Amino acid sequence: MKDAQALDLKPGQSTELLKELHILTREGRINQDSRRKLKQVTHLYQFIEKLLVELPESPSGPTLADHGAGKSYLGFLLYDLYFRPRGTGHIYGIETRAELVERSRALAQRLGFERMSFLHLSAADAAGSSELPERIDVVTALHACDTATDDAIAFGLRKQARCMVLVPCCQAEVAACLRQTKALALARTPLSELWRHPLHTREMGSQLTNVLRCLYLEAMGYQVTVTELVGWEHSMKNELILARATAQRKRSAAERLRALLAEFGLQALEAERFPGLPQSAV
Ligand SMILES: C[S@@+](CC[C@H](N)C(=O)[O-])C[C@H]1O[C@@H](n2cnc3c(N)ncnc32)[C@H](O)[C@@H]1O
Repeated sequence: MKDAQALDLKPGQSTELLKELHILTREGRINQDSRRKLKQVTHLYQFIEKLLVELPESPSGPTLADHGAGKSYLGFLLYDLYFRPRGTGHIYGIETRAELVERSRALAQRLGFERMSFLHLSAADAAGSSELPERIDVVTALHACDTATDDAIAFGLRKQARCMVLVPCCQAEVAACLRQTKALALARTPLSELWRHPLHTREMGSQLTNVLRCLYLEAMGYQVTVTELVGWEHSMKNELILARATAQRKRSAAERLRALLAEFGLQALEAERFPGLPQSAV
């Protein structure tokens, strides 16, 4: 074990918080199991900080909702490094596991992180919950399971989020659809070789899911960049999708999305996953 100095902490960063999150032991040593998590979250913080700085000033400060918050490493780090020193803004953690919600509430209280709320809600239900404000500036979802990332996107659209920061996790929905229509696709196009083997079906499903999400965001008025979160040695789920609101919905992205759904036999997903897509030009 190495000590806290090796973590390259930021000025003012709370070692008390890192101990509470079990990233540091009580003696201030690094817990190696948590080191990877801290590295991911710190790296992600750098992207989010840039987005927060760009937000228009408001007296109550920025609002941020983190979906599939888990132990809320990301939320706590964001609060400690950005929201706490500024004395404004609010972070909402959305999580389906009641014990994690309770644990985060207790920790926030112990640390005096008053402008953090932890809600026992699914990402899908969060958009309609009265516990959240009408508008949220930033939506994050770090490894939120399966379709929770899609629910976070739907939430962001409804809350007119200025930006969304998504690191998708495992995705099963599209792969399941690909599996169902595989025989038909194999007869129709040689490209279906790309997802003939079960492992490739899963990988292709995952890749396609994120491609469709990016097109959807563009079609709904966001500028999207896709990049790597950290090196593969730190996480297998490594794709970072950053979306910034623009005033422009891209009709061409909607057309591409629909064309891809048709090509892969996934049209049934449009109504549930991609509602409100701009209509094609006639
Ligand atoms: C892999 S963990 C990631 C936790 C945290 N974001 C992180 O990166 O440390 C995924 C979390 O999402 C939660 N989750 C799964 N489905 C969800 C949903 N539909 N809505 C909200 N939370 C969900 C799980 O309970 C779990 O805590």
